[in-house]
Amino acid sequence: QTLKDRSLTSVAELIKNGGARRIVVITGAGLSTAAGIPDFRSPKTGLYHNLARLNLPYAECVFDISYFRENPLPFYMLAKELYPGKFSPTISHVFIALLANKGLLRMLFTQNIDCLERVAGVPGHRIVEAHGSFATQRCIDCMTEFPDKEMREHIERGAPALCVRPECRGLVKPDIVFFGEQLPSAFFENRSAPASADLLLVLGTSLSVQPFASLSIMAAEGVPRVLFNKEKVGDVGSRADDVLCLGDCDSGVRKLADELGWRDELEQMWRD
Ligand code: OAD
Repeated sequence: QTLKDRSLTSVAELIKNGGARRIVVITGAGLSTAAGIPDFRSPKTGLYHNLARLNLPYAECVFDISYFRENPLPFYMLAKELYPGKFSPTISHVFIALLANKGLLRMLFTQNIDCLERVAGVPGHRIVEAHGSFATQRCIDCMTEFPDKEMREHIERGAPALCVRPECRGLVKPDIVFFGEQLPSAFFENRSAPASADLLLVLGTSLSVQPFASLSIMAAEGVPRVLFNKEKVGDVGSRADDVLCLGDCDSGVRKLADELGWRDELEQMWRD
């Protein structure tokens, strides 16, 4: 066993004594709920529950590429609610940036499309946005890029944008990965990172969407996996070196920062 026991104190010791220098972090929507962005699957507050009012055939179809071709409006309505620019990073986002500042972050894999990791200061080359992001957009037919400023206007008006090429006029979609689409090449290029990690942190994800969820099982046996989540997810907890920190991830991260002696630095960085 790598850890003395299954506690955050032992995880902090491992980091402090240099036993964890290639940390891989995997995250999902729960990382951003404290920033005011709803997650997908939480009962009552999750987006999928609240999409019921749109009379969709099923909630996930809002991210389904074939459904989008027929009816892009529900997605555009949702995009208006989620569009980056109105939200600030949480202390958990900043903790990941702090790991990067200390040279301990090997890679962050996020399913989030809110870009808050970048805003928090995690360097771009350490982030794999596995489900894409709102940063760019293109026509779903001819793939021609569409300008950012105009996209913002379309999203604010809830009016689907059409391709800039008059002979095409296909629908424009932000470069977020829909069901039925390939994940970005960066995901596949970096997919082996968890296998060479010496510590895996899992924050705010239900680990219910593949292939992303498979990252959590790729950590080598004996490599501690720490879960900061409201509920137990995936198979985290089943290995001897797994540590469960159940509850809201910001409290968990603050606890770990306390154990590391990084708490003041973290709070300072978050305030700035
Ligand atoms: P989910 O909504 O499926 O899961 C969020 C998880 O975070 C749940 O386990 C919550 O209990 C937990 N949670 C919520 N708030 C939390 C908090 N403050 N602290 C700790 N835990 C919290 O979201 P994802 O796992 O990100 O795909 O969903 C994965 C993918 O499903 C998304 O990327 C999206 C969706 O369909 C696409 O858009 C393609």
